[in-house]
Amino acid sequence: MERLTGKVALVTGASSGIGNACARRFRSEGAVVACVDVNEMDAASRTGVVGDDGQPGALLLMADVRDETQVAAAVDRAAAHFGRLDIVVNAAGVAGGGAVHMMDAAEWDRIVDVNLKGTFLVCKHALRHMLTRRCGSIVNLASIEALEATEGGSAYNASKAGVVLLTKNLAIDYGRMGIRVNCICPGFIETPMTAAVFDNETMREYYDRFVEAHQLGRAGKPEEIAAVALFLASEESSFVSGHALVADGGFTAGRRFGFAKMMGLE
Ligand SMILES: NC(=O)c1ccc[n+]([C@@H]2O[C@H](COP(=O)([O-])OP(=O)(O)OC[C@H]3O[C@@H](n4cnc5c(N)ncnc54)[C@H](O)[C@@H]3O)[C@@H](O)[C@H]2O)c1
Repeated sequence: MERLTGKVALVTGASSGIGNACARRFRSEGAVVACVDVNEMDAASRTGVVGDDGQPGALLLMADVRDETQVAAAVDRAAAHFGRLDIVVNAAGVAGGGAVHMMDAAEWDRIVDVNLKGTFLVCKHALRHMLTRRCGSIVNLASIEALEATEGGSAYNASKAGVVLLTKNLAIDYGRMGIRVNCICPGFIETPMTAAVFDNETMREYYDRFVEAHQLGRAGKPEEIAAVALFLASEESSFVSGHALVADGGFTAGRRFGFAKMMGLE
């Protein structure tokens, strides 16, 4: 059975990675989807989102989530086109950073503005529509890096920690209006974002170590996060709100020191 039949979803960051996987999965589950991104969707990313017969179930919108005027216009256009707004996934995001004493304030602003302010702006304008019908589900993309620090990750970690608390704040402010708000804390997921971070020989070594720290011994796939987003977006999670759902292949479960190997568990 399709779990989102008749639902209207808006997904930011829909041109790539996790956002794109969410748009595809939601379409396959019966939703119509407004895809919002600062970059145009290429032919590959439209596959499974835009129907063969044009785009009856998808609306492709370009907007920079840092810009309130563009966000308001995109959200209003989506709601007008499809008649309402039931689900929002905030997946637009950027990586980056560095050690604090060497970081330009502009780099800090870039990361925090996209990841945190962008999430705030999309929620703000989506809530206007959700409040009129007193229902809705918002799913924000945070990160395990919101829960644990990573070397050189100050701006990204702080932006994602902000997303977790913003999520909880929205959940308490709008719960009685029938609106659920949750976030996902993914571990390392193979997407264009992470491919760009580890795109050289030096970083490859760190890639292997980072992946090794996931207890499942592998990185995740965007589709595995889209499955979690589907759960949070759908009625299957009807009593879940204000939750930061960790989907990290065991990264934050604990540390390994080799005892498992001694016990023959590898
Ligand atoms: N890939 C991972 O390992 C991982 C882990 C934890 C959390 N996340 C988070 O998941 C989300 C998706 O990440 P991804 O790996 O799919 O990245 P990605 O780079 O593949 O996709 C991000 C999308 O966001 C869009 N975007 C960037 N800035 C934007 C802006 N200002 N306005 C509108 N759109 C903008 C990009 O154009 C791109 O299409 C991000 O918030 C990221 O921080 C990713």
